[in-house]
Amino acid sequence: MQMNLQGQTVAVFGAARGIGRAIADIFHEEQCCVLGFDLTPPDSTSSPMDYAFFAGDVTSSSDLKAFADKAVAVDHVVFCVGIGSGSFGFPFWNVSPDAWARVLNVNLIGAAQVAHALAPHMAKRGSGSFLFFTSVAGQIGSQTDPPYSASKAGLINFMQCVAKDLAPHGVRANAIAPGMVKTDLNRSVWQWGQQRLPEPQRVDYETWAAEKIKKVSPLGQWQDPAEFASMAIYLASHHARNITGQTINIDGGWVMHS
Ligand SMILES: NC(=O)c1ccc[n+]([C@@H]2O[C@H](COP(=O)([O-])OP(=O)(O)OC[C@H]3O[C@@H](n4cnc5c(N)ncnc54)[C@H](O)[C@@H]3O)[C@@H](O)[C@H]2O)c1
Repeated sequence: MQMNLQGQTVAVFGAARGIGRAIADIFHEEQCCVLGFDLTPPDSTSSPMDYAFFAGDVTSSSDLKAFADKAVAVDHVVFCVGIGSGSFGFPFWNVSPDAWARVLNVNLIGAAQVAHALAPHMAKRGSGSFLFFTSVAGQIGSQTDPPYSASKAGLINFMQCVAKDLAPHGVRANAIAPGMVKTDLNRSVWQWGQQRLPEPQRVDYETWAAEKIKKVSPLGQWQDPAEFASMAIYLASHHARNITGQTINIDGGWVMHS
């Protein structure tokens, strides 16, 4: 299937690592002009990023304004930034109320700030798409990291608002909800849990990961960043011209609304 995205401009937020990196790479392979945005550039051990990179923070309106001034011709925006609180629930009052602000600020308000900075350009151009990365956690009231879950639920809701507001301007908005992907973000959940176990009960990441995926996913498989990248180019392409306001779960069947 031809995506026909050649020559289009794509802004990827959270482009240095994990899923965002795979997405920036696939748009580059599709011969798009990729503008990557992240707190820090990718580390030197990963493959070189041969597209434009901007160091910035999605919670900084001045960083986003500087980026938007350079990205006036953007066609597609992918928001792949996400952080956890660094502490976990079970029950939720194990997480300090002070942990909420930073997570909501990055995951939800950061996404809103990106949309504020870039939507006016896109509405004026009359075409394009937004893609926001949410999570299964945002659909099931996950107890693991309550501020994270709430931020992802809020992001689904905001994506629908973006989709409605931009539809008359020919711009679409969707969300992808991953289940479990072996990135730094996921590793931090394992690390946190292990630190709290007595030494003899601790297991390595791969052992923990194998057990965990069996418990939560009907298909019993981890997702790979490349799977999200394929969906991202499809959603940006003309093949998805009637898809807007949707949350697409790529989660091995973890979340089923029946
Ligand atoms: N990994 C999973 O299992 C999983 C599951 C569900 C949802 N997700 C979501 O998918 C998206 C990508 O996750 P990932 O696993 O690739 O995460 P990751 O931690 O590997 O990458 C996230 C990137 O965002 C960047 N970032 C963090 N804060 C930022 C800020 N304030 N400004 C700019 N950049 C910032 C980081 O530097 C990093 O490069 C996130 O929204 C995450 O919540 C991931």
